[in-house]
Amino acid sequence: MSNVHFEPINNLELFNKPPQWEQSDVEKAIQFVLSQIDRNLNTFTEQFPDAASTGNVYPAIGNIEWTSGFWTGMLWLAYEVTGDEKYRQTAEIQLSSYRERAEQRLYTDTHDLGFLYSLSCVAAYKLTGNEEAKRIALLAADLLMERYFDKAGIVQAWGALDDPEQQGRMIIDCNLNLPLLYWASEITGNPAYAEAAARHIGQAARYIVREDASTYHTFYMDVNSGGPKFGRTHQGYADDSCWARGQAWGIYGFPLSYIYTGDESLLDLTKKLSNYYLNRLPDDLVAYWDLIFQEGTEQERDTSTGAVAACGLLELAKHLPMLDPSKRIYENAALHTLKALSENYTAASAPESNGILLHGVYNKPRGMGIDECNIWGDYYYFEALVRISKDWQLYW
Ligand code: GLY
Repeated sequence: MSNVHFEPINNLELFNKPPQWEQSDVEKAIQFVLSQIDRNLNTFTEQFPDAASTGNVYPAIGNIEWTSGFWTGMLWLAYEVTGDEKYRQTAEIQLSSYRERAEQRLYTDTHDLGFLYSLSCVAAYKLTGNEEAKRIALLAADLLMERYFDKAGIVQAWGALDDPEQQGRMIIDCNLNLPLLYWASEITGNPAYAEAAARHIGQAARYIVREDASTYHTFYMDVNSGGPKFGRTHQGYADDSCWARGQAWGIYGFPLSYIYTGDESLLDLTKKLSNYYLNRLPDDLVAYWDLIFQEGTEQERDTSTGAVAACGLLELAKHLPMLDPSKRIYENAALHTLKALSENYTAASAPESNGILLHGVYNKPRGMGIDECNIWGDYYYFEALVRISKDWQLYW
């Protein structure tokens, strides 16, 4: 980790100051999010938005994707912001589908259990003390633990544990799934969950992060010897390029593990990842889908990267000392990003859309959700707006 390069931020002229963005602008941005949630509330009570929109409209599907929790998480955020019981009631109706999914092991062959259950059941427990939600979230944590290879110290991302294509594969996105394990240790008093999460984050820091502070999307470990194998992309442009959202998952995920481990080297690492990211943004601060692409390319942007990175930069800044000058710089970078998203990239300009952020990219190499809304982009945009509006306690 210490061999990871620290690249100073180029655009200090911009990031030294916060944007001209009034509280009333932020409130307006939140009102737009709430209006889209209201528009979707009936459609997505028993059903969920698909991961990405089609023609900027989310189709309704069952609780089968890795992304259901983002919608339920938005309901919890809406409940927190407004106090309106209708959001809580809808989120509570959805708990039974999370219960069924965990109990019957439906579509649970994935590390995404953290995204799914932190934002639905852990949030329900933290906000309302719902004991059944706590029980379901602990079931999900147990399922996630089944994916942990002790020798390699990693949680396998996808597929069956004996699938030669997937065995021992860790991915940068998993950083966001580890809080479910830390939380499970806090709740149960059993340290095994947190120990697994802490080992995984150490392996991600060691092997997924490259020397130049960019990231592989995925990295294979040998589950028998425990040794490293090689990096591979899945959603990026090339194995040796830097998938933009992957970098953002790193920027948000490493500080989340800092909260639970107290390991300050994770903050140091996050600074390096953040600087690499900020130095490769186009002029309007909304990244192209892979950071190999720079200003002037015809490639699509991925707005969700900006939303995830904004949450990460805010979380990083929160833990830096007052006397660290980069604290303000990361905060300002998050605010500039959010302002750009709110002014130029929301579905306020697309009345047919039931999404919130336009112009996301789900998986360009596989032709999925290109230049569409995606539900995690909507969620993280809302989370970031809530973060800058109140003293928000994390669901993670
Ligand atoms: N975690 C999958 C994605 O970011 O698309």
